[in-house]
Amino acid sequence: MRDVYVIGIGMTHFGELWDTSFRDLFVEAALEAFGDANMDRLDSMYIGCMSGGLFVGQEHVGALLADYLGRVPIPTTRVETACASGGAAVRQAYLEVASGMSEVVLAGGVEKMTDSADVTAALATAADQEYEVYQGVTFPGLYALMARAHMHTYHTTREQLALVAVKNHHHGAMNSKTQFPFEITVEQVLASSMVADPLRLLDCSPVSDGAAAVILASEEVAKQAKGHPLVRVVASTQATGAMALHTRTDLTRLDTVEHSAQVAYQQAGITPDQVDVTEVHDCFTIAEICVMEALGYAEPGRAAALVEAGETRLGGSMPINTSGGLKSKGHPVGASGVAQVVELTIQLRREGGTRQVEGARIGLAQNMGGTGASSTVHILEGQA
Ligand code: COA
Repeated sequence: MRDVYVIGIGMTHFGELWDTSFRDLFVEAALEAFGDANMDRLDSMYIGCMSGGLFVGQEHVGALLADYLGRVPIPTTRVETACASGGAAVRQAYLEVASGMSEVVLAGGVEKMTDSADVTAALATAADQEYEVYQGVTFPGLYALMARAHMHTYHTTREQLALVAVKNHHHGAMNSKTQFPFEITVEQVLASSMVADPLRLLDCSPVSDGAAAVILASEEVAKQAKGHPLVRVVASTQATGAMALHTRTDLTRLDTVEHSAQVAYQQAGITPDQVDVTEVHDCFTIAEICVMEALGYAEPGRAAALVEAGETRLGGSMPINTSGGLKSKGHPVGASGVAQVVELTIQLRREGGTRQVEGARIGLAQNMGGTGASSTVHILEGQA
């Protein structure tokens, strides 16, 4: 396997984008990535998209988007692992360049969710239909069960969960592309409407439209793409686990995240304490806490205390979700995993402006599908 670099990044604004179509979202992000790379070459594409069919009635997404981007006949494949579709697309693009098959591959992610009449039902197709969804449970409900288990086992408090959302909105207020670019308080989270006890509106990532794209290339091509410091992908992993919550031995643990992270640390030759900046899949506040523990950033049951101590905030010892995370930035599901790599690249190039993590050199992106049955981890190293 050979070295792979991120040479271009692009991302639309995330939010309720009534005047931009599904295909236009993708094209906007992809063109921004080509402009950023300052080159036009492309050998193939992978597109993360959880459910074009249910959200906008569109399947055969790869062909549609390649055609509309003016890139036929290059091979283009849509990748689906629920909310981890974006991370899986980045991994496929990485593998294609690393194997030597291609020199330049685009990993994109796109979702247009706000046009759908029943987003909650569409999202629930990523859970176990027979054993979970048929019983009436939705994703907020499933994560609420995980939150209750964490609170029961480790005495994690309602306020500690709220602090995750407060911190991510604080970061998101510094990112011009976020859906909700404003600060919130713990009191506002605790007073927001109940969605699935104990999770309230401000514990939840929103329903969003948006797209993101990253262009990956071999070292030879990356050295020709001038303009930005180089960012190398030093690990790309994926793990699969039990789909339904009731089949897991511990509702507070995310085995797939743990596994994908352990293999990623081995690939990169690093330990968790060497990561300078992290993007995690905070689809609900409890998710960020469980993911931190699965990544080895904290012992089981200790992550919430680190959040409370401000360690995961900009300026803390382990800044997490400097982009605003899914909570503040928005969560167009297929795009989120790609957008995480966009944020890490900004950070590792030291182009983060007011939300820049000083001296950031190693970044980790963790993206997951469902309640964690699929997880991808990417570790990037900046050479700024
Ligand atoms: N965070 C902050 N504000 C939010 C929000 C969120 N997650 N979701 C909605 N809002 C705001 C809206 O902008 C709107 O504000 P306005 O009245 O000023 O316009 C208000 O809250 C009501 O919005 P609405 O769209 O009516 O909310 P809803 O009740 O239909 O949906 C959720 C709220 C939380 C149920 C929905 O966002 C949701 O399902 N989120 C989870 C998505 C999910 O499961 N993703 C997959 C994860 S695995």
